[in-house]
Amino acid sequence: MHIAVPLPGDNRLGAIAGDLAARGWSWQPRLLPDDLTAALRAEVLLRDAEQDLDPAGIGREDAFQLDRSVRRTRIAWMDGSSAAQRAFLAWAEPVRESLNRALLIGMFEFEACYVVYPEGGFYDRHLDSFAGARNRVLSLVVYLNEAWQPETGGALAIWPEGADPAAPPVAHIMPEAGGAVFMLSETVPHAVDVTHARRFAIAGWWRVNQSGDTRIDPLT
Ligand code: OGA
Ligand code: MN
Repeated sequence: MHIAVPLPGDNRLGAIAGDLAARGWSWQPRLLPDDLTAALRAEVLLRDAEQDLDPAGIGREDAFQLDRSVRRTRIAWMDGSSAAQRAFLAWAEPVRESLNRALLIGMFEFEACYVVYPEGGFYDRHLDSFAGARNRVLSLVVYLNEAWQPETGGALAIWPEGADPAAPPVAHIMPEAGGAVFMLSETVPHAVDVTHARRFAIAGWWRVNQSGDTRIDPLT
């Protein structure tokens, strides 16, 4: 199967870079091409139906395991093993290059997983990366749900960078198919409201290369 992948136009990429520079996050409804969204949605629905997803908490690093163990989500890492995954990873690459040029943030590698929340699922307010750890710099969440209704819950709540825990969120985003949220991983607090239906998404992160005096990151 071949999936044509039109790239986000320069104006969308410019808007994302502008939002990130100004406030640390950007919401882009229907950013993914419809064909790609449909292929990704079909794959996550199939894997969910076949119970071919792992409990969150089986991660690649300690922080990730801790992070996920408080959630009841199920995930599947993207490894490029399907046409949909290859198309998505290919779509993400020029986004990385463009945002690197615009923001000079030196994003180096990308990893992503399908994430399924069961009915009643949620994710408390958190950051995706610990400040100073210099691993994840930019988070991407892409939604794969059709015709989501406000009363279904499951909105993504976003707070301003550095907001007091008691402050109200500045945005509630519905997880509607093809929409994409970009957030600076170290500084933008966010949460997932209780969802009253199964909720399908992709969570991804770009990392910077951590090579330094004592450690060399491999290129692959
Ligand atoms: C995450 C996350 C938000 C969402 O996976 O870290 O915050 O809307 N996801 O699914
Ligand atoms: Mn998060």
